[in-house]
This record gives sequence, structure tokens and C-alpha cells, in this order.
Amino acid sequence: MMMNGELAGFTIPRLGMGTMALAIEGRPDRDTAIRTIHAGLDAGVRYLDTAWSYYLPSKPGTGTAEDLGYGEKLVRDALASWNGPRDEVLVATKTGYRRTMEVPAFVAPVSDSPESDTQGRDSEGCSRRPGEERQHLQAAGSQYGWMADSRPETMIRDAKESALHLGVDTLDLLYSHGPDPAVPYEDQCGALKQLLDEGVIKYAGISRVNNEQIDLARGIIGSGLVAVQNQFSPSHPDPEHTMEHCAELGLAFVCWSPLGGFLDTFDQSAYDPFRTVAAQRGCSYQRVVLAWELTRYERLFTIPSARNPQEINDSFAATQLQLTQEELAMLPC
Ligand SMILES: NC(=O)c1ccc[n+]([C@@H]2O[C@H](COP(=O)([O-])OP(=O)(O)OC[C@H]3O[C@@H](n4cnc5c(N)ncnc54)[C@H](OP(=O)(O)O)[C@@H]3O)[C@@H](O)[C@H]2O)c1
Repeated sequence: MMMNGELAGFTIPRLGMGTMALAIEGRPDRDTAIRTIHAGLDAGVRYLDTAWSYYLPSKPGTGTAEDLGYGEKLVRDALASWNGPRDEVLVATKTGYRRTMEVPAFVAPVSDSPESDTQGRDSEGCSRRPGEERQHLQAAGSQYGWMADSRPETMIRDAKESALHLGVDTLDLLYSHGPDPAVPYEDQCGALKQLLDEGVIKYAGISRVNNEQIDLARGIIGSGLVAVQNQFSPSHPDPEHTMEHCAELGLAFVCWSPLGGFLDTFDQSAYDPFRTVAAQRGCSYQRVVLAWELTRYERLFTIPSARNPQEINDSFAATQLQLTQEELAMLPC
């Protein structure tokens, strides 16, 4: 099996590292987080996935200026203090989401929004209009939530901030984090196209999308669109066949929460066949899951999170795990 793949101009191992778990609920201390990223890079990871919204608000609302950029700055600092070849590492980030604290159906009062906490950013264009229907997601048992805010001006402003947080002139790959019901999807795609045209980003991706949205984005963004990041794992098997659609269009498919995620509960029995193969192999079932995912599509990238060096070392070893036909026959097809 080809373990390397092409993404946003890089030819890299198809197992990257999601850094969300190092920056949000349950995150380890900063030193452990940096050591975990270093362990991934030392093992061979060459794709780090982050987002503008990987942070925790320290007060009700969407947080303060000091809270913002936690995850992206972590990636920046880990790369700056790593002894390996920085220019071989693709860093992808996302725009259009933010975190909220405490109220699931939260609508930020202007005074509590991060916009008003940093100089000169509280323009009318960024204040919330009454009755706006935005997407709110609440993690099970968490006091924090997620909120889509994908107005083009917000996406563009946040993308430029991401470049500052990451300490780069141009972002390698920027995803729209997800559709926002308050913004026509073509407008979100238009924001990505503008960022490409202005040279703020080299390549664009989209996330949490169906096939119709993939087609719409491709029509607007054209060849600058290179990747779709959707949820995929044994417990979340892509019922809309977006992976097949990516294969038809020649787009990379990047699976988020490839081990089922860590905040919400999911059907653990979906992993039983992987546990059986893992017991025979004498390795973790997570490694078998990741190796299986890599067999699904030759342009699939999987980006497990890890909260310590052992986990990412164990996960990256999936790139060396060649599943046999007999083993694959025991796993979902
Ligand atoms: N586009 C989007 O909207 C979106 C949404 C979600 C995630 N993502 C991306 O996808 C990435 C991964 O998703 P995720 O963080 O939700 O979860 P995940 O990768 O499915 O699960 C990660 C959890 O599994 C455990 N784990 C990882 N490797 C392991 C190993 N080898 N052995 C045992 N346990 C292991 C860790 O939990 P413990 O620390 O508890 O052991 C880890 O936090 C994120 O970092 C982010 O970049 C994107």
C-alpha cells in the first residue's frame, strides 16, 4: 500500500496528526503538548492539523484576545523548537468557527466577543444581528461549545490572524471549518477563493460537507480546492459516500476523529472486529483502525489526535502495518 500521498504540494505520509486534543477540553500542559508534537514529527508525521478555533474561552462568551490562537501558537512553537526539517511539514488550519463557554444556544453579546477585546475589530460588520440562526455544537458533558461564524469577512480576518499565530506569510492549506446556516455556502467558498487570489493561502479545503457542497465549492474555488475533511471512522462510516465523490473528483479525503473522537460517546462495538485483529497482531486496536482507514482510498489522510508521545508513536506505526487480505475480510468493507 502507498503510505505517502500528495496534499497541497507536499508528498508526505498519509498519517498526520490532529492537534485539537492538545488545545481544547482535557488538554495536557503546554510542555507535554510540545513533546507530543515533537514525538509525532520525530516518528515521521509531516502533516499537522489545527484551527483558529482550537482554544478555550476563559470567560463566558467566545473568550478574550489572550485565549485566541492557543492551538496555532502551540504548533508554531513546536515547529520552531524542533530539530528536524520544518519545510517538509504541511500545516493546515481552519477558519469559520469559534468556541463558546457555558450556554449551548449561545449568541455572543458584542461586548463579550473576541472582536471587542482586540483593538479596532469591533466593526458593525462583525457584530451579531438579532435572530441570526447559527450552528451551535455542544460537546457531551463539556461546559464549552462550538459556534459557526463563517461570514466572509470573519473567515478572511481569522485566516489572516491564523497566519500571524502560525508565524507564516502564507498558509499552506486552509479549510472552511464547516457550513454556517446563517451564510450561503457559496459565500463561504467565495471567501476561500478570495484568500487564494490574494495569496493569503496556497490551497483551500472544506470540512463537514455533503456532496452537493463539494460540487458547489469546486465550481467556485476550482483547482485551488484540494481536500475535503469529513468525519470517518468505524463508528462514523460516511453514509453519504463523500469519500467516493472525492475519489471521482481527485480530491484528498482527510478523516477527522478517525478513532471515533474523544468528547462524545459513540458505538464502541463498531471497534470489536479491530480488537480481534489487534489481539492476533499483539498491537493496539487504534493502530489497526488507522491502518484500515489508509486502505480505504489512496488519497485518504488520517489525522488522529494524541495527548501524549506514546499515543502518537503507537498511531504512526500504522503506516508500517500491512493488513492481510484475511484480516481485511474480518473488517468492514
Ligand atoms: N473538521 C472538523 O470539524 C474536525 C472535528 C473534530 C476533529 N477534527 C480533527 O481531527 C483530529 C482528530 O480527531 P479527534 O481529536 O476528535 O479524535 P480521534 O483522533 O478520533 O481520537 C483521539 C483520541 O483517541 C485516543 N488515542 C489516540 N491515539 C491513540 C492510541 N494510539 N492508542 C490509544 N488511544 C489513542 C486519545 O484519547 P485519550 O487522550 O483520552 O487517550 C485521543 O485524544 C483533531 O485533532 C482535529 O485536527 C476536525
